[in-house]
Amino acid sequence: MKLRGKTALVTGAASGIGREIALLYAREGAAVAIADLNLAGAEAVQSEIEAKGGRALGLAMDVTSEAQVDQGIDRAAAALGGIDILVSNAGIQIVKPIHEFPFEEWRKIIAIHLDGAFLTTRAALRHMYRQGRGGAIVYMGSVHSKLASPLKAPYATAKHGILGLCRTVAKEGAAHRVRANVICPGFVLTPLVKNQIP
Ligand SMILES: NC(=O)c1ccc[n+]([C@@H]2O[C@H](COP(=O)([O-])OP(=O)(O)OC[C@H]3O[C@@H](n4cnc5c(N)ncnc54)[C@H](O)[C@@H]3O)[C@@H](O)[C@H]2O)c1
Repeated sequence: MKLRGKTALVTGAASGIGREIALLYAREGAAVAIADLNLAGAEAVQSEIEAKGGRALGLAMDVTSEAQVDQGIDRAAAALGGIDILVSNAGIQIVKPIHEFPFEEWRKIIAIHLDGAFLTTRAALRHMYRQGRGGAIVYMGSVHSKLASPLKAPYATAKHGILGLCRTVAKEGAAHRVRANVICPGFVLTPLVKNQIP
């Protein structure tokens, strides 16, 4: 029970990697807020955690919406007792060659990964600094934070950008005992990956 007494908020936790993180954190004793566009999916993960005796809250949140992020993180902190851990995980993938990439789709990927990481970080840091008990921010990067693949221009660009945000948070957060790290997984078979396979 490494996380007993801690509260975590995981974005994109109705599915895939985020869902597994939420379930693992709950098994380790954390109270977990599951924030996702998909409220029914978030509530299903909440029920799964509660059925095993854990504490959880499913939240509807579009991580690109400043108001939804601020209100959702405030709500999670009020319901669960603050925010000790943020996992910025929500993400999508669209694969196309650069010369055919619609600008709207470029902007959508950049917004979900980078605006989402910024908005959730800002809202979580406000709680962590005020609480004065430190904290941890975990970003879901990718092997594409370090490398590139054809057809994944906005995804690789966004995942590289997360490194810069994380390094800045690590420097600013240190005085408040807030750590920041990026996880860079390779291939994980989730709906995000399955949707790329024709
Ligand atoms: N699957 C892989 O191979 C792999 C590898 C490296 C990194 N990643 C990263 O892991 C993260 C999770 O991916 P996954 O494979 O579990 O995908 P997934 O599709 O299973 O889950 C993504 C979740 O994010 C949610 N989401 C999408 N847009 C959102 C928004 N605007 N606001 C809130 N929630 C939103 C979806 O509803 C979904 O529940 C992503 O950041 C992805 O880039 C995945």
